[in-house]
Amino acid sequence: MALSHLLLSLLAISTSVFAQSSTTYTDPDNGITFQGYTDTTTDVTIGLVFPEGSDSNDEFIGEIVSPLTNQWVGVCLGGTMLDNLLLVAWPYEDTVVYSPRYATSYSLPALYEGPTITSLESTSVNSTYWKWVFRCENCTTWTGGSINLTSTASPLAWALSNTTVDDPADPDSAFAKHTNDGSFEEDFYAAQSAYYFNWA
Ligand code: HEM
Repeated sequence: MALSHLLLSLLAISTSVFAQSSTTYTDPDNGITFQGYTDTTTDVTIGLVFPEGSDSNDEFIGEIVSPLTNQWVGVCLGGTMLDNLLLVAWPYEDTVVYSPRYATSYSLPALYEGPTITSLESTSVNSTYWKWVFRCENCTTWTGGSINLTSTASPLAWALSNTTVDDPADPDSAFAKHTNDGSFEEDFYAAQSAYYFNWA
């Protein structure tokens, strides 16, 4: 094997071994079993759960759990910032303001119409953390993309900032670029649950 081929093979192996993968966890606050991931650097947890066998459904329940040091957190459902449904949220007083967005260039994403989002009861803000738990309907397809529920490893990206958004009361607020971003591999296939409609 040529040296370049050997190096490429090693690179492919190390990328697949070191990619961060989602796991199943149950949030004790709401009893919902999510498929998600906690980023150890920022201490942010992102989890999703879908109705079982739900290729024809268009919804999921999600949660973002974050230390208050993060003043907004966003999830890119298609795995990258551009041309994907972005769900951005931030703490405001004793609740969480959310904002579906869409970006076609690397600048402030615009509000995106289409999703019907409902914050669930376990959404909370305390002295150290905020948690947004939500049902997102009409959320599995968007302009130019969709979630593939048969995939056991699709990238889910996130971004966040430690700077407060300009007008926290307003879902259409401007905000500055993220101070951190990253991604993990979401197992969408394992993210389906027969209990979904008990939780929604
Ligand atoms: C004012 C708002 C924003 C600006 C100016 C901005 C700008 C940028 C720029 C210039 C990059 C290229 C790499 C770099 O320079 O770091 C980037 C990458 C990225 N952004 Fe944003 N961004 C914004 C908001 C968001 C939001 C709300 C999300 C998530 C919901 C997000 C997710 C990402 C991710 C995951 C990347 C990594 C590369 C990629 O996915 O293309 N960004 N952003």
